[in-house]
Amino acid sequence: MTSNEEIQEIIDKTDMVELVGEYVSLEKSGANYRGLCPFHDEKTPSFMVSPQKHLATCFGCHKSLNPIQFIQEIKNISFPEALAIVAAKAGVKINISQRKSNEPDLSKYYSMISTAESFYYKNLTETTNGEEALKYLHNRGLNNEVIEKFGIGLSSDKNDIVFQIYKKLGYLELDMQHIGMVNISKGGAYHDIFTRRIMFPIYDVHNNLLGFSGRVYKPEDKNQPKYINSPESIIFKKRNVLFNINNAIIEARKKKRFILCEGQMDVIACDRAGFGEAVCSLGTGLTEEQAKLLKKYAPEVIVFYDNDSAGINASINAISILKGHGLKVKLVRLDAAKDADEYVHKFGEEALASYISDNIMTPYEYQFDIATYSRNLKNEDEFNEAKGEIFNFLKLENSNSTIELYLTKFANITNISYTSLVKDFNEFANKRLSYKKTSSPTIEKTNYVTEHIDDKYIRASRRLFGYATLSKKDALYINQEIDINGFDDIHKRIWIEIIDNYYIFNETFDQQKFASMIYEQNDLYEVFKKDINILSTDSIEKYDASDMILCIKTFKEHTKLREIEALKIKLKNEMSPEGKKYFGQKILEIQLELKK
Ligand code: CTP
Ligand code: MN
Repeated sequence: MTSNEEIQEIIDKTDMVELVGEYVSLEKSGANYRGLCPFHDEKTPSFMVSPQKHLATCFGCHKSLNPIQFIQEIKNISFPEALAIVAAKAGVKINISQRKSNEPDLSKYYSMISTAESFYYKNLTETTNGEEALKYLHNRGLNNEVIEKFGIGLSSDKNDIVFQIYKKLGYLELDMQHIGMVNISKGGAYHDIFTRRIMFPIYDVHNNLLGFSGRVYKPEDKNQPKYINSPESIIFKKRNVLFNINNAIIEARKKKRFILCEGQMDVIACDRAGFGEAVCSLGTGLTEEQAKLLKKYAPEVIVFYDNDSAGINASINAISILKGHGLKVKLVRLDAAKDADEYVHKFGEEALASYISDNIMTPYEYQFDIATYSRNLKNEDEFNEAKGEIFNFLKLENSNSTIELYLTKFANITNISYTSLVKDFNEFANKRLSYKKTSSPTIEKTNYVTEHIDDKYIRASRRLFGYATLSKKDALYINQEIDINGFDDIHKRIWIEIIDNYYIFNETFDQQKFASMIYEQNDLYEVFKKDINILSTDSIEKYDASDMILCIKTFKEHTKLREIEALKIKLKNEMSPEGKKYFGQKILEIQLELKK
């Protein structure tokens, strides 16, 4: 047993910022550090770490954890296990009693998969069976150091080796199937899921081994699927996993960004070029879950997909998913190669490093680039296609100067006058607006609802600011309930100032104090003065809890309606059938949520 004095010593000796920093990207904020709470989903940070008090506190989900409790919660392990980890980090020696737990214990499954991984690795690196595959990897530029770092292995030519290993170790057939390593054939014999493939292990952020992605390498397997991944299981959920996330979070925390690639070989190419913050999903587009995961560790993602139409479509899609989770998005479009792996193969690691550094674009730059780079803009049809694409993304922009910037760019490369482009653009934008009012009955109906809600929304959103300035508790509650992307840009920024900056250091709202805080941000200050400032004096007696709940509800509905509107525009502009299907489904999903 460990005495309370010993436990206290371990807590006192722990560097809380370093400990928490392994899981949460932290920024200094006064004497404390601040980041996104790893225990609940949030877009604005309410998780505070105090190095002096050795405490991590979330005022969103009301947790306050010492270092041992923090490790216990984040790794989902018992107190003695967490104690052992923290004590080791703090350099305090303790006697660890064996843990006994009746919770479902996934560690057995993880170690079963690790058993297979060890076999695969040895099979590749230490046996004659591995020679052909090793040569294949070396030819693709992966040296032994890279193979070791990623734990790359080789599954056997025989079809039940892993099954036999498990059997010898006394594992149950049911468990082998459960973790997606073994399957049963029609004749009743057990066989391995993976054979004759180069194996890429996939870990989670805690370095638990979840499963594999296996690639064919023998010329005679050319007609087999190029990659197969572990099947869905209690531990392997494709929507959640990202290849290399275990290594990437360490680098991403330092660089404050991830690089999102299309395939494992591209992630490895990036790593070889010095970008250890690269990850990829497994043969699927980016999911909401993956975006949420990335957001926990860094504020920015560079999308670096293949340079083909699938890659471009997937990039546009990734932009909106990542932005939806409050991530800053940048992109790199490759030239002269299909993907990062091919680029390194052709031009070398250093060339890839400088290509990435020199070609990071904002989403608009990227969209402008793909609209123009492969078109002959002297040809009337191609000019109009490019113009259409540019107008389409600018249509969603509120800032006139941004619109001007891109129309000027387009004017410059086409030699068409800026004035006539602006005329076309205005006409284009207006056309769409009038189109809305005179279209089919169903759309008219939606429009009616939207307009109707619009007034309600403005009232609701103003009153939410009112409630937020009347009480910190309500402010934090509202913040948890709503998606702040439902505010327009300025109000969103003011909201963030109130929640994240003002209330962190103040218990009650003081208009003067807040105004002086945002005084230097002219645009915020102006809106605050004429719009929000008046709220606190506006019929306070009518403010009550049920009205607040109603306002939250109205605001949420409106956020969804706005989302639908934006998706409808995307649907209309989308060319590919897959894209159309995707946006159509999204709209239906949100409409269903609205009905609830
Ligand atoms: N993928 C998959 N299943 C497939 C094909 C691909 O899961 N049948 C995933 C893999 O994660 C792969 C990624 O999609 O890394 C990219 O696929 P692709 O572009 O076909 O990969 P390549 O770049 O051609 O792969 P490689 O470089 O290994 O030839
Ligand atoms: Mn490739």
